[in-house]
Amino acid sequence: MSKALVVYHSATGHTKKMAIAIGEGIKNAGLDVEVKSVDNTSLDDLIAADAIILGSPTYFGTVSNKMKAFIDKSTKIWPNQPGELKDKIGAAFTSCADVAGGSQMTLLSLIQAMLWHGMVIVGHQLGFSGAVSIEAPDKDCIAECRQFGERIAIFVKH
Ligand SMILES: Cc1cc2nc3c(=O)[nH]c(=O)nc-3n(C[C@H](O)[C@H](O)[C@H](O)COP(=O)(O)O)c2cc1C
Repeated sequence: MSKALVVYHSATGHTKKMAIAIGEGIKNAGLDVEVKSVDNTSLDDLIAADAIILGSPTYFGTVSNKMKAFIDKSTKIWPNQPGELKDKIGAAFTSCADVAGGSQMTLLSLIQAMLWHGMVIVGHQLGFSGAVSIEAPDKDCIAECRQFGERIAIFVKH
């Protein structure tokens, strides 16, 4: 069975809540899914997944240093080498404090890293580059994250 991996960094739990909701959506759509903190995620976990969904809080208008360090480490999985991430499905999400706080930059940075690996990106169902929450996700945002997960699963299956 295809497997999705949701990897998040979250200092105060907001991005983690989004990660769990996206994971629920993926599971509801019938895919195997694992939701992991970036601290517990290995490069082998990335290689084993058919879809990788990355989430980070927005720090100074971009990804947090923890997520960036993980992304930098992922370059050990070199494109065109065994275990490459090419053609895997990718998607991104972030939590930030303010509507103009740079969430889009965070999403695009996460997406850029996945494009570097040759991954295929699934955007948000409403046409945005990924899922965004202002601080803790409210009920509507949780529902949107679940739908985002379901949408990602459609592309993994086909
Ligand atoms: C070091 C630091 C930098 C931050 N920079 C921004 C920022 O540039 N824009 C923004 O909207 N929020 C910023 N925030 C707020 C966080 O993105 C926001 O609180 C988010 O919900 C935290 O997610 P988490 O609970 O998953 O850690 C910053 C927070 C910290 C601790």
